[in-house]
Amino acid sequence: MPFAVQERLIRPARNVYGSLRLPGDKSISHRYAMLGAFAEGVSRFTNFSTGADCASTVACMEALGAKVERQGGDRVGITGVGGWVTPAEGPLDCGNSGSTMRMMSGLLAAQEGRFTLTGDASLSRRPMERIRQPLEAMGARLTLTEGHAPLIIEGGALRAIDYTTPVPSAQVKTCILLAGLQTAGATTVREAVRTRDHSELALRAFGAKLSRTVDSVSIAGPQALHAIEAAVPGDLSSAAFFLCAAALFPGSGLVLDSIGLNPTRAALLDVLTALGAHIAVLNLEEKHAELVGTVQVSAPAEGLGSTTISGAFSAQLIDELPVLAAIAPWTRGGISIRDAKELRVKESDRIALMARNLRAMGADVTECEDGLDVPGGQKLHGATIDSGGDHRIAMAFSVAALKADGETLIQGADSAAISFPEFFELLDLVAER
Ligand code: S3P
Repeated sequence: MPFAVQERLIRPARNVYGSLRLPGDKSISHRYAMLGAFAEGVSRFTNFSTGADCASTVACMEALGAKVERQGGDRVGITGVGGWVTPAEGPLDCGNSGSTMRMMSGLLAAQEGRFTLTGDASLSRRPMERIRQPLEAMGARLTLTEGHAPLIIEGGALRAIDYTTPVPSAQVKTCILLAGLQTAGATTVREAVRTRDHSELALRAFGAKLSRTVDSVSIAGPQALHAIEAAVPGDLSSAAFFLCAAALFPGSGLVLDSIGLNPTRAALLDVLTALGAHIAVLNLEEKHAELVGTVQVSAPAEGLGSTTISGAFSAQLIDELPVLAAIAPWTRGGISIRDAKELRVKESDRIALMARNLRAMGADVTECEDGLDVPGGQKLHGATIDSGGDHRIAMAFSVAALKADGETLIQGADSAAISFPEFFELLDLVAER
């Protein structure tokens, strides 16, 4: 299904106010579905991500022998294969989801058989060499098409490795850990930047043992996983659109309930605080070692300040950078982003699309290879936005549109359904006109 077909008109708002409960975290839902489908027993998840990406993971695991009960909306029951998948008859379609393709490859590399993984046009352009290298070092065979999907895995018994990831990536780390889970000996992944650790927490929740140091994580295989029941925390990367929208309007007030606040994901709250937004976190609790809490945000009367996002911070904020760039023109001192070259190989070249769409709205922007500079103190006007079929670009510019003069047309707005199908409905609930 091409996503760049539906348009959405966004009218400016005068304020952002209200309270919302958001759908389940995409990263955690992928991992719970994959591990639940691989484990022994029946896992049950509530507040499971409603996005198309996680549906791709569930469908692939179903094709590999897991039994799936879709209990309507955000509830899913999965009977796992107990450590042995059934080779699927046809290709495994990962849709638009890099997480599905990269993480599932690690799981399958240690399984006997031949597996073909495909994706849509966007996923078929994204780099897969980064998983081929470690998995081949472990003894699997991966055939790519010029570094991309379709991807063919010839799996079997592997050997443990000690691997340093050249690019910080939680997907690549997870890929190696899922292969290591099934491999005799200790498999270690070292990373220069601590990427999101949902896999480590989820593997432990399903009964696996892992050990970590300041810059590495190790898993000694083979280990069996056991089913769990879990409520998925709300998605902070989806919450980012609402937090940033509220940060733009003096007089705003927004409360977001049960949001995942894992410290490896929560850097956005630090950035918004540094920009001067008022953020409070209430009712903190832990669910399967994931922190969950209620986030309150309101905008500073004097407007947002300025900040530079670089180094490890850029890797940890990678999914939130589009919306931060989209609100940057209204800050007083602007936002600069560096060390974010990975944005060029996400669902789209996000640096290029952020720059092009900001310019379409009348902003002055300087683009560089690994980021961009958006000066502050600018006024934007409504425009036609090319989302490039990229969910985060479509949603980021819908937020910018709330503060622009005149209406904004978001092309490819239906791509929001990749991570957040309810986005436009919820935006209408809190955007006061
Ligand atoms: C994700 C990791 C990040 C992120 C993606 C989800 C994950 O990708 O951008 O949206 O769930 O592990 P990389 O691993 O490519 O950095």
